[in-house]
Amino acid sequence: MKENESVSESHIAQWRADFPILRTSTQSGKPLVYLDSAATSQKPQAVLDALTQFYASENANVHRGIYGLSELATDAYESSRRTIAEFIGSCYPDQLVLTHGATEAINMVAASYVATVCKPGDEILLTVMEHHANIVPWQMLAEEKELIIRYVPLDESGALDLEAYAKLLSDKTCMVAFTHVSNVLGTINPVKTMTEMAHAVGAKVLIDGAQACPQIAVDVSLIDCDFYVASAHKCYAPSGVGLLYGRPDLLEMMRPYQTGGSMIETVEFERSTFLPPPMRFEAGTPAIAETIAWAAAFRYLQSLDLDAVRLHKLNLQRLLHDRLQGFPKLKIHGHAEKKVPVVSFTHEVIHPHDLATILDSEGVAVRAGHHCAMPLHRYLDVPATTRASLSFYNDATDIDALVKGLEIAEELFA
Ligand code: ALA
Repeated sequence: MKENESVSESHIAQWRADFPILRTSTQSGKPLVYLDSAATSQKPQAVLDALTQFYASENANVHRGIYGLSELATDAYESSRRTIAEFIGSCYPDQLVLTHGATEAINMVAASYVATVCKPGDEILLTVMEHHANIVPWQMLAEEKELIIRYVPLDESGALDLEAYAKLLSDKTCMVAFTHVSNVLGTINPVKTMTEMAHAVGAKVLIDGAQACPQIAVDVSLIDCDFYVASAHKCYAPSGVGLLYGRPDLLEMMRPYQTGGSMIETVEFERSTFLPPPMRFEAGTPAIAETIAWAAAFRYLQSLDLDAVRLHKLNLQRLLHDRLQGFPKLKIHGHAEKKVPVVSFTHEVIHPHDLATILDSEGVAVRAGHHCAMPLHRYLDVPATTRASLSFYNDATDIDALVKGLEIAEELFA
């Protein structure tokens, strides 16, 4: 489909119909207008069905039982790993560690990889647009190992300043960790170029794909990064599961992050030996049903006309910007050329929390505050923003509802 084409109403209506929650009303009695997908996505019926089916007919623990039901659950779990691996372009399921979320995956790389290879004085390069999950684990590590953290600044549009990035990279940089898509500005970062630049100075690269996986196609082999992380709950699936893709040689040298059942080879009273990746990093009973439901979410996405989905989101993003630009007292933060339909804004008169409360009374769910990105807000010199984050299940009427809510807010504060 070409850029200026529109997506048929029936496509959009079908996508919306796939998400039962979109037929509900809010506590205010108004139909739900869900504009907080960057915080967590809604779940399609296919995912709800996968959860129910697992618990109704396949539930048993995995990697333990030799009875039929446990083998069925293990097969379903491991085949889900393959589906998830394929979805991010990592063809080998051994490279895909199933974690409890993107946050755990970043902590795992910090503690089990970087902590073992860095030397005092080494540098970790982050960007000012990271959310807390991709800042705090590195701060803890830096304190413990005497590392230095540096931050790549933004240009005027809210894109990363690649000249500054090039200058910050050096042979002291041991790890570069950056988000694929900003959860506040919506900016899509040039991850392949950034990875090549980091590799040229010998640094390893971790990409936080929490906001990218639900919005854009991801292919870790094409990006050629060393680590990639994401969370299921932002990808139309349940919470409590995430992924860590890792280069096999790096995963192989990483020490266990947590220990317990399922990750050992042998245990003696004096010592234990561990399984190879990915099992080495999956101690204890995993989130079985949630992982199976994540694979169902990916199969559901694959069943859609993905060109139409992409175009619809682009159209939504443009429409959202255009309509918000009709409010002279409102400032949008983030105008990068490549972005997803996530827009954060401030109002000259109305505090973001007041705005979100008024919007809520109209049935419109948006997030207000720092969106787990306090340093970015400080950098932008705003205490908080209001954020509307859209997905393919939103449509133009949702943007109308947002605009109407903003008009009501302005009237109330006039
Ligand atoms: N990082 C998540 C958000 O942007 C929690 O809302």
